[in-house]
Amino acid sequence: MKKIRKYYYTAVLFLLAGLTPLAAQQIIAVKTKNNALVLQVNSAKEVNTIYFGEKLANDTDYDKIAGQYHQGNDYTGIYNSVYTPSGSKNLLEPAITVTHADGNTSLDLHYVAHKTTQAGEGVSQTEITLKDPVYPVEVHVFITAYFENDIIEQWTTIKHAEKGMVTLNKYASANLYLKGNNNFWLNHYHGEWAKEMQPEEARLTHGIKVLDSKLGTRANLFMPSVFMVSLEKPATEDEGKVLFAGLEWSGNFRTDLEVDPFNNLRIISGINNAAADYKLAKNETFTTPKFWYTLSNKGKGFASRNLHDWARNYKILDGKGQRVTLLNNWEATYFDFDETKLKGLIADSKNLGVDLFLLDDGWFGNTYPRNDDTAALGDWDVSKKKLPNGIGTLVKTAIDNKVGFGIWIEPEMVSPSSNLYKNHPDWVIKQPERPEHYFRNQLVLDLSNPKVQDFVFGVVDQLFTENPELAYIKWDCNAVIYNAYSKNLKANQSNLYTDYVTGLYKVLERIRTKYPKVPMMLCSGGGGRVDYAALKYFTEFWPSDNTDPLERVFLQWEYSYFYPALTLSAHVTDWGKQPIKYRTDVAMMGKLGFDIVVKHLSEGDLAFCQQAIKNYSALGSTIWQGTQYRLQSPWGNDAASVMYVNKNGNEGVMFNYSVNNRYDSGTHNPIKLKGLEAGKNYQVEEINVYPGKKTSVTTAVFSGDFLMQVGINPNVNTTNTSVVLKITRV
Ligand code: GLA
Repeated sequence: MKKIRKYYYTAVLFLLAGLTPLAAQQIIAVKTKNNALVLQVNSAKEVNTIYFGEKLANDTDYDKIAGQYHQGNDYTGIYNSVYTPSGSKNLLEPAITVTHADGNTSLDLHYVAHKTTQAGEGVSQTEITLKDPVYPVEVHVFITAYFENDIIEQWTTIKHAEKGMVTLNKYASANLYLKGNNNFWLNHYHGEWAKEMQPEEARLTHGIKVLDSKLGTRANLFMPSVFMVSLEKPATEDEGKVLFAGLEWSGNFRTDLEVDPFNNLRIISGINNAAADYKLAKNETFTTPKFWYTLSNKGKGFASRNLHDWARNYKILDGKGQRVTLLNNWEATYFDFDETKLKGLIADSKNLGVDLFLLDDGWFGNTYPRNDDTAALGDWDVSKKKLPNGIGTLVKTAIDNKVGFGIWIEPEMVSPSSNLYKNHPDWVIKQPERPEHYFRNQLVLDLSNPKVQDFVFGVVDQLFTENPELAYIKWDCNAVIYNAYSKNLKANQSNLYTDYVTGLYKVLERIRTKYPKVPMMLCSGGGGRVDYAALKYFTEFWPSDNTDPLERVFLQWEYSYFYPALTLSAHVTDWGKQPIKYRTDVAMMGKLGFDIVVKHLSEGDLAFCQQAIKNYSALGSTIWQGTQYRLQSPWGNDAASVMYVNKNGNEGVMFNYSVNNRYDSGTHNPIKLKGLEAGKNYQVEEINVYPGKKTSVTTAVFSGDFLMQVGINPNVNTTNTSVVLKITRV
C-alpha cells in the first residue's frame, strides 16, 4: 500500500513538472515525417534503442519489435543503450566514461523521466533524464526532431554534485544503434591540403572503425566528421537506405562505428577524448555538441535534399538569403601589392561585374611586415608602406566603383615574428619546456583565455569601427595545434582542446551579436574547417585551395552531399589547364567568385565572364535556394551533371562537365533530368555560350516527362568540355 502511494505521489509530482513517470517497458518514440527512433525503458530502468527506421503505421507495433530478434545473449542488457556508460556492466565501447571525485571509475545511468516539448514549428525536443543510482551524476539526453526534413540532432548535458572535480574521460554527444545483420557500408572522407573530401567506401567488419581528428583548430584537414552508412547494400543516388551524419563541432571529434557481437551497428560520436579528459566542477553543466543525422529510404539524393533544406532553414547564417559574387586578389597578387595596384583591382571588379572586391593576406604588419607568410600574424595594424592611406581609402574607392569591400583576417593565429608574440607570450599555445613547432610558420593563440577572446573579437570590431562600410570578411585558420599547453588553464590542461573551441564560439557569438548580417567566409588553409556549428556564424566556406576546375568537379560533388551550394565558395582561378568557360561553369555550381588578373583576360574571355556573372546573378536564387539533383557522377563517367530546380518549379539549371580527356569520351547518351513535373513543358536553352561560338544544344521545348524519362544530351566531349542549360517552365 505504502509503495503504491509512493508511486502515486511521484507520478503526480512528475506530471506537475510536465515529465512522464516510469512505467514498465515504457516506449519513447521520436518521429519525423518518414522515420521513427524508438527507445525503450527496460525493467532495470535502462534506456535502450529498439528501432530506428521507417515509421510503422501502428504505434502499438513498436512494443512487438524486440520479441522478433533472437540474436543471442546480451550479457549486459545495454548493447543498445541510448548512452552507454562504462565501468559497471558495459562490455562494449562506451559513450561516457567518468572518474568520480573519489577516484572511482564506474557509472550506471538509470531512467528518471522524459518529456517532449515543441521547440518551434515542426520541431520537437525530447529530453530524457538519466541518473547514476550511486553517485550524484546526472545526464540529460536531448533529441531534437525536425519533422519535415527527417533530421535529428542529438546531444547531452552532464552535471554532478560531488565534492570535488569529476573527470569526463569520454563524453560523446550521441550513441546510435542500427539493426542490420552485419551489412553496413561506411562511406567516409579523408584528405590533405588541396586534396580535401576524398571518399572511401567499405563494408564495416566486426570491431570498431574510428573516424577522428586530433588537429585542434583546422580539425578537418585530414578528415571531416561527416559520413554515410548504407544499410543492406551501398546506396545509390535514388535508391537504398542510407544514414548521413556529422558532428556540429569545429575541433577534434571522434566517431566510433562498432559492429557488435549481434551484428548490429553502434555509432558513438562526439568531441575526441584523446588528450582531452575534461575536469568538471560541482554543479557545472557540460553540454556536448550536437550530432546531426538523417536516414533516407530513397538513396543519397533524398538525404542531401533534406539536409540542404534543414541547413538553410536552421543552421547557416543567412541561409535563406542572397550571396555576393566577388573578385579576390590572393592568386592575382599574393603579398605583392600597394594602394595603386589594389585600386586598379577594385576598378577591375566593377568591370568584371562582381558585387565585391576581397583584399586577401598581406595588408598588415609594420614592425614585422607581412610580405610573406613568416611574419606579422597578430599585428593587425595596416601596413604603412603598402597602404599609407589605410583601408579607408580602399573602401571608399570600392564604394565609388559601386562594389563592396571585404578583407582577409586570420585572427586566431600569431607569427613568432610579431609584436603580439613578443608582448604576450602567455597568450600562445605551446609547451613551456619544448621547442616550438610551426605550421605555416605560425602558432595558435590560446582561445581558452578570455583575454585572448577579447583580443580576437577586437580585431574584427576594430576593422568595423574604423570601416563601418566593410562588406565581407574572410576568416582564415592555417595552423594546427602542436604542443598543446595553455598558461591560462593551469592544472586543467586537458580541457584545452574543448575550451579552445568553446572560446572560439564565444568570440563568434559576440561578433554576430554586434554584426549580425555581414557575410563571412570560413576558410582554413583550404577546406580544413567546416561543420554546422561553425556555419551558424558564417555564410559560406572555402572547400579547398585546390581550384583546378577538374578537381573541383569531384570536390564540390562530394561536399554537395552535406552542404548546399550557397555555402560552397568556388572561385575561378588560373589553376588547371581548362578554358575560362570550363573554370567559370564549374565555379557557378557553387558560390561564384574570381581570383584572376582581369587585365590578363582576352577580350573574348572577359566578355564571357561578364555575361556568365549576369547569368549567375539571374539564376542565383535557384542555385542558392533551389533543390539539388546530382544527375550523373564524375566517378566512373565521362561527364558529370548536376541540376538545381527552384522551389516554385518554374526554373532550373543543369551543369554538365567533361571529366575525361580520352579518345571519344563524352556524353554519348542523354542525361535524365529530375525534379520536374511530368505533365508540364520546359524550354531548354544553353547559356554561358562563349562569344562567337555556336550553341551545342539547340533551344527547344520538351515535356517534363520526356526530360525525366529520356533526358537530354548536353553534347559534352573533349573539345566542348562544359555546357550549362537553363530550364524554364513554359
Ligand atoms: C590560405 C587560404 C588562401 C589564402 C592564404 C593567404 O592558404 O586558404 O585562400 O587566403 O591563406 O595566406
